[in-house]
Amino acid sequence: MNYLIGIDLGTSSTKTVLFDEEGTVIASAGKDYPLYTPNNGWAEQKPEDWRDAALETIAKVVKDSGVAADDIKGLGISGQMHGLVMLDEAGEVIRPSIIWCDQRTEKECEEITEKVGAKRLIEITANPALTGFTASKILWVRNHEPENYAKCKHILLPKDYVRYILTGEFATEVSDASGMQLLDVPKRQWSDEVLEKLDIDKSLLAKVYESPEVTGTILPEIAEKTGLSTSTVVVGGAGDNAAAAVGTGVVEDGKAFTTIGTSGVVFAHSSDISIDPKGRVHTFCCAVPGAWHVMGVTQAAGYSLAWFQENIGTEYARKAKEQGCGAFDLINADVLKTPIGANRLIYLPYLNGERTPHLDANCRGVFFGLSSMHTTADMARAVMEGISYSLTDCNDIIREMGINVTEMMACGGGAKNGVQRQMMADMFGCDVKTVTATEGPALGVAILAGVGAGIYDSVEDACRKMIHTDPEKECHPDAAATKEYDKFHQLYKKLYTDLKDDYQTLANL
Ligand code: XUL
Repeated sequence: MNYLIGIDLGTSSTKTVLFDEEGTVIASAGKDYPLYTPNNGWAEQKPEDWRDAALETIAKVVKDSGVAADDIKGLGISGQMHGLVMLDEAGEVIRPSIIWCDQRTEKECEEITEKVGAKRLIEITANPALTGFTASKILWVRNHEPENYAKCKHILLPKDYVRYILTGEFATEVSDASGMQLLDVPKRQWSDEVLEKLDIDKSLLAKVYESPEVTGTILPEIAEKTGLSTSTVVVGGAGDNAAAAVGTGVVEDGKAFTTIGTSGVVFAHSSDISIDPKGRVHTFCCAVPGAWHVMGVTQAAGYSLAWFQENIGTEYARKAKEQGCGAFDLINADVLKTPIGANRLIYLPYLNGERTPHLDANCRGVFFGLSSMHTTADMARAVMEGISYSLTDCNDIIREMGINVTEMMACGGGAKNGVQRQMMADMFGCDVKTVTATEGPALGVAILAGVGAGIYDSVEDACRKMIHTDPEKECHPDAAATKEYDKFHQLYKKLYTDLKDDYQTLANL
């Protein structure tokens, strides 16, 4: 039997899973690490933490599985996108990584738009200049820490840094590279025009591969440390969402998924390139060679729920411990007892600014309509609804672009929550399904590794054989609920428009 490893380098933890070639989980291990917020709106992590988590979890799954190293044919890495890792001549990390949800680069985005031109930027990179994307982070370091920029010899994305540790290769692949704002997304290669206009030396960037292509093999010292073999191939892998798409079988037209992790995403596959001229949703290369995807992003989806639990709904965790259940069992029970609209309480999930549909780094979270009658139960429901309204905004734009979604899969932590899935089915007005495999991105990149290692013929072929929907967890929309949610959604949308200028004023105070 052949075996494959998928690594998912997330924002809160790294999860490594060893699968057999049929996609069965043989062993899995995870390790958490911190996120640092040195200033309001900033978000950093230490690449060394990612490295240690990857090495530790690989060693654990290899050991726990008892699988012979030579039978582990391939390894794929998926991960949080956009983070900036800068290495010096010796391959050492220069400064902490400025990660995807960091919002400090508004001025640099203006600089990019001015230098490349707004229209040209969307034509080439398929997206307007965004604070979350890597290019503005590179410019921020150049503008604010010239001594660090001068030392920088290699620029990598988070998962590509882990690849460098494992293989010694400076490589990336099209799906993650699409989020750097330096890639010509239609042509699937670095854009000389953007690099020249921004005065970024191309030699700083890694070689670009398609996601299932082999980028290297395991270094001898890493094989020694982890128990892997030096013949195990490491493939391109994919950004977390492109990887989740493979792991949920969203690799053909008509298929889409929605995920609630730290951020929330609605992702639709497209074999033709389709770009929103207003830049409200991202168009990226996907992990299927020669195809793309369109994706809307809610910055603080699961993050809103985590923030709520840590700061407002703290009692849920305490009571859950007492009762020997999970905090979400209690939150869900409260949400189900509360009517649609949370007794006229609306939550805007803009804790970290927002991407789709507002592209606004300065907007912030709101509870609107708070009254003395409201309880944490209403607030819990409002938070869950607010996240779902934001995902509905993403889905509406994808529909507006003419991408016809016939099958919506739910994945990520939020997909495990049946209450949240039903809410999305009601708001989207379509069936929401899940797949039996729960390993999403890790399975996705393991499949890519299997293609690279020659075990499967193609990504589509592997998905057809290995990914199955779970009929028991299908959620069908309830027409009455759809209508009721729509009333609150209209007001939710208006609130942003009403507050837009006030957010700027607040940011400037
Ligand atoms: C995608 C994005 C997030 C991160 C973190 O554009 O920013 O999905 O990859 O999960």
